[in-house]
Amino acid sequence: MPHLAFQAIDSTNAEALRRARDGETGPVWITAERQSAGRGRRGRAWTSASGNLFASLLLADPAPIPEASQISFVTALAVHDAVCAVAPSLAPRLTLKWPNDLLCGGRKLSGILVEGETRHGLVVVVGIGINCAHHPDDTLYPATDLAAEGAAASPAAVFLALAGAMRARLAEWDRSRGFASIRDAWLARGPVPGTPLMVRFEGTETAGRFETIDGHGNLLITGDEGVQKIAAGDVFPLHR
Ligand code: BTN
Repeated sequence: MPHLAFQAIDSTNAEALRRARDGETGPVWITAERQSAGRGRRGRAWTSASGNLFASLLLADPAPIPEASQISFVTALAVHDAVCAVAPSLAPRLTLKWPNDLLCGGRKLSGILVEGETRHGLVVVVGIGINCAHHPDDTLYPATDLAAEGAAASPAAVFLALAGAMRARLAEWDRSRGFASIRDAWLARGPVPGTPLMVRFEGTETAGRFETIDGHGNLLITGDEGVQKIAAGDVFPLHR
């Protein structure tokens, strides 16, 4: 896939969306060495000094609209694959946190922000941040980076692995024409069923034990009131 590499930019996701509004359909990767206005999920900022990987993939019509949200799980698997490839020593300590964060030893190593644009048909922008050389220490969720975990890798090397992994996972998703195989692969890398966790969403907290993710990617947890289906929120470990 074509690749546009910037030294500095506001946000690779914002650049991809500007291009989508101008009619560009991709697929194209946009990367930057640093971002001045990197954005995270739920309107949060994403710390973006050089040394880490900031990449966005612009895709036209990756799936019918009801299935497009699956791309966030497809991408999480590709990020997991890429980190296993460049830092194999970390593989036993990597887990996925719903919906699409990659954790190493329980600390956040990567985040994904999927945004969309429908003016010229559906265009999806998949934004990926992977902490290679540094991580913020004032975040909602404790973070880490490859170097801090003893597995340094350059953003360029991580990008190469990511681009290959993303191509393979998108092809698998296309071939399987459904969520089942992606969901199974996600669950194999996700929390162990029964893990206590807490979900925060717009000021409310829901505690329970991890059950699974359903066929639409919703999180299912069992709490005092039985099984709850969660469509959005931030997940935290719960120490009971
Ligand atoms: C999260 O909050 O976990 C998602 C973070 C996503 C950050 C990446 S960095 C590349 C792309 N450009 C952005 O502005 N954000 C995403």
